[in-house]
Amino acid sequence: MESVIVAIDGPSGTGKSSTSKAVAAKLGLSYLDTGAQYRAITWWMISNGVDVTDAEAVANAASKPVIVSGTDPGRPTITVDGADAAGPIRTEEVTSKVSAVSAVPEVRSLITELQRSIARSAEHGIVVEGRDIGTTVLPDADLKIFLTASPEARAARRSGELKGADVHATKEALIKRDAADSSRKTSPLAKAGDAVEVDTTDLTLDQVIECVVTLVDEKRTAA
Ligand code: DC
Repeated sequence: MESVIVAIDGPSGTGKSSTSKAVAAKLGLSYLDTGAQYRAITWWMISNGVDVTDAEAVANAASKPVIVSGTDPGRPTITVDGADAAGPIRTEEVTSKVSAVSAVPEVRSLITELQRSIARSAEHGIVVEGRDIGTTVLPDADLKIFLTASPEARAARRSGELKGADVHATKEALIKRDAADSSRKTSPLAKAGDAVEVDTTDLTLDQVIECVVTLVDEKRTAA
């Protein structure tokens, strides 16, 4: 198999981003963080005074921002209308509003098309991480992984990333966002029927990376 497409889905705090970047770097593949794209469009809505609770207003504005993702796993980038969005998309305000924006069908169809065109143009293959990659965006991916972890482990990892944020509050916010992402009508967070589930609760990051690299190698050998 010359070019390989790997879909990595799962809720927040399961180690999706760290795993996906490391696997892509090890295997010489491109990398796409689809959550960053939903965050970018959310940041644009906030910056342009769009009420994110008004689905019609969000739908009407959805095609306005130009979102560009750089797919080098060693240096992933994201810009909105040419401006670097890497910092602004990680604020608490964006995090609390991204589920509402990403539930709007017009937003999803635009971003999904963008993701498919990026995946198609990746010369050596790509690792794409998100919530609906295996189910909706790339249903023909060569390998689908669904990462899980206990809510406690996920909250502890996230609060570590947020430099000591309160674990209890982080856990509540994370559970709320996962519930919204899993219950929306259009392509919710879900495990594809043919995805391999990896529970990362008791695994180190290196063990998860190793596990996914082995699964990719097995697929390539079998092809
Ligand atoms: O992976 P993340 O936490 O940066 O993702 C931010 C939000 O984007 C998440 O709460 C749900 C949404 N998202 C989505 O709906 N579909 C994806 N493929 C990726 C993310």
